[in-house]
Amino acid sequence: MRKKPEELRSHRWYGVNDLRSFGHRSRTAQMGYPRSDYAGKPVIAVINTWSDINPCHSHFKQRVEEVKRGIWQAGGFPVEMPAMSLSEPFQKPTTMLYRNLLAMECEELLRSYPADGCVLMGGCDKTTPALVMGAISMDLPAIFLPAGPMLRGDYKGQYLGSGSDTWKYWAELRAGNISESDWQDVEEGIARSPGHCMTMGTASTMTSAVEVLGLTLSGAASIPAPDSRHAQMATLTGKRIVDMVWEDLKPSDILTAGSFDNAVTAVLALGGSTNSIVHLIAMARRAGVDLNLARFDALARETPVIANLRPAGKYLMEDFFYAGGLRALLTQLGDLLDLDQRTVTARTLGANIEGARVFNDDVIRPRSNPLVAEDGLAVLTGNLAPAGAVIKPAAMEPRFHKHRGPAVVFHDYADMAARIDDPALVVTQDSVIVLQSAGPQGAPGMPEWGQLPIPQKLLKEGVRDMLRISDARMSGTSYGACVLHVTPESHVGGPLALVRDGDLIEIDVQARRIDMLVEPQEIARRRDAWRPPQPKFTRGYGVLYLNHIQQADTGCDFDFLETEKAQPPAGGDPEIH
Ligand code: FES
Repeated sequence: MRKKPEELRSHRWYGVNDLRSFGHRSRTAQMGYPRSDYAGKPVIAVINTWSDINPCHSHFKQRVEEVKRGIWQAGGFPVEMPAMSLSEPFQKPTTMLYRNLLAMECEELLRSYPADGCVLMGGCDKTTPALVMGAISMDLPAIFLPAGPMLRGDYKGQYLGSGSDTWKYWAELRAGNISESDWQDVEEGIARSPGHCMTMGTASTMTSAVEVLGLTLSGAASIPAPDSRHAQMATLTGKRIVDMVWEDLKPSDILTAGSFDNAVTAVLALGGSTNSIVHLIAMARRAGVDLNLARFDALARETPVIANLRPAGKYLMEDFFYAGGLRALLTQLGDLLDLDQRTVTARTLGANIEGARVFNDDVIRPRSNPLVAEDGLAVLTGNLAPAGAVIKPAAMEPRFHKHRGPAVVFHDYADMAARIDDPALVVTQDSVIVLQSAGPQGAPGMPEWGQLPIPQKLLKEGVRDMLRISDARMSGTSYGACVLHVTPESHVGGPLALVRDGDLIEIDVQARRIDMLVEPQEIARRRDAWRPPQPKFTRGYGVLYLNHIQQADTGCDFDFLETEKAQPPAGGDPEIH
């Protein structure tokens, strides 16, 4: 049933005849809009995370105009609302500290202004989950506009991948294999267009996941940012949201346990970022879906990695788009997906991908020739991570799938930075590097420190992978035998806090175990001696964060923002006085 104009939420601001609505109308007139521009039309909030300091969104100034064009054409009234831009390369200590703040901002913008529906403009890592989390909680019709990946990097005739090649060439520089001048060439060529990172890092993983969830136009997430088809998609996104408002098609009509399973399956098939685990769990819990680590692990056991994309594989997002993109990949997954799930297009996921084809079967592999047959991600538990830890077996040297070695422990990031390259550090390629105090509370903000550096003296011997363990996250563009998200984190007294130099650590990916081989009595003795560290913040948002942040296994949302069911929180809309 189509809504009537007087049923629009914005009618309460614009459509009634009282003193307040006079104010709303006269102030809209002040901005140059006659009544006919908005009367009886859906007001569409375009939440734009553009910023001068976010290179991944540098095209959003232009794209927002294309979105607005679509909204006008479809008979809506676009209202651009700038929101905090979480710029992965620049924001310290980590954008993850601010994901929930942007989620709150998105929700409150939608709640406090006369929005009937919204377009969410994001893409750089945490912007995607943050905007979607806020929109889920507000539950107005919402459509996501993914920023799109940047073009391939270029260096001496070779393609460069965001992040992955940064770590690779940094290691080569530290090992003395390339010059400062080479390194500068990498710097100048690795990011050469607007758009988010173009490896299968967190940005590409999350925008793809959101497409599979049904919250973007079909095919939107794979289009490179500078491609004219991206601009066309922006206009079509603007058009579509207006109809979604009339149809009253909301996130709660789209998001189900089935759509989240689809998103997880797609992330696994893409060889996606471990960060998506935290974000998808947080998004699902906002939607009232109990997605957990065990579900990720179960789906990982049956889902092959079929996207041959860095960091696990060879190609970049531009190649992926030319090979058919996400729609083509989904056609390969077939019975692993529930194709009956609804999407913003008002059609099912299955209908959306009908007719999609693979144009390069080395980039998008058939299931009969996967990049990795199973275990794109694995969830480990054991006495070192009672509530879980994650690892990406597809992006590490296989010899570490089962390994035992002595711990080399750093009690925080500063300690690691000070000692990791010390020639006197007692470490071999079989050692297990452990970083404590890098979790949600400990760092704080659970930064992407999890790809712990390999000691320089081992790099010079040719070592390029080691077993590394932390309660941090890892950039989705990273690779290596890195156990991440160890939960509970060391800062709150998790067993990781109790590891000491020389303790034997054992990992068995097949058995999904991670343990420290220390006598229980000794662990108990260390626990008795452990004292909680001082909180890292004493004022401002940081205090709110520390008081309410939850652990990685439940998505690091704030406790007071979780939604029991997929409904607007108690209180709903504000009164308009
Ligand atoms: Fe923005 Fe990687 S820096 S997505």
